Amino acid sequence: MDDSSNIILVGPMGVGKSTIGRLIAQATRRQFKDTDQEIEERCGADIPWIFDIEGEEGFRNREATVLRDLIAEPGLVLATGGGIVTRPENRELLLKNGNVVYLTASIDQLVKRTRKDRKRPLLQVDDPRSKIVELIKARGHWYEEVAQAKVITDHKSPKTVADSILSQL
Ligand code: S3P
Repeated sequence: MDDSSNIILVGPMGVGKSTIGRLIAQATRRQFKDTDQEIEERCGADIPWIFDIEGEEGFRNREATVLRDLIAEPGLVLATGGGIVTRPENRELLLKNGNVVYLTASIDQLVKRTRKDRKRPLLQVDDPRSKIVELIKARGHWYEEVAQAKVITDHKSPKTVADSILSQL
């Protein structure tokens, strides 16, 4: 893998894309970016606000623009929002990039890691577990489709997961 290529992490909410992405960036001396963070910086508002005011569609439009811009920058480690794969044009860009890693975990782990979260609008429902199951069902095949490697993160430290990704790329 040459230094100018991007390493991109996809997968569901709560799987640890940002934490693991930062570790990979450190290890490979790449810059780390996160699509959610970039959206918030550009918009000057947080994700719950964007969902409130612009709806999910507005958020997805911003997300697609950010992905297109960031993927064009060389040598990044990029953590993406869990819904990035819902748009065909995003999947196309991810596939073209290569070096996409699908991080996954058991439903129990994902529920545990997102339990106290108030910043993910899609999980502010009565039964977040069912929502997580529903999202994985709808999106799992897309993560598989765009990624060249898949790593299960249960019972592994972020460092172990990062090392395992680096050995596969
Ligand atoms: C979303 C995941 C979130 C964020 C937004 C929507 C999703 O990112 O983009 O709340 O649709 O799965 P994380 O996967 O980083 O939590």
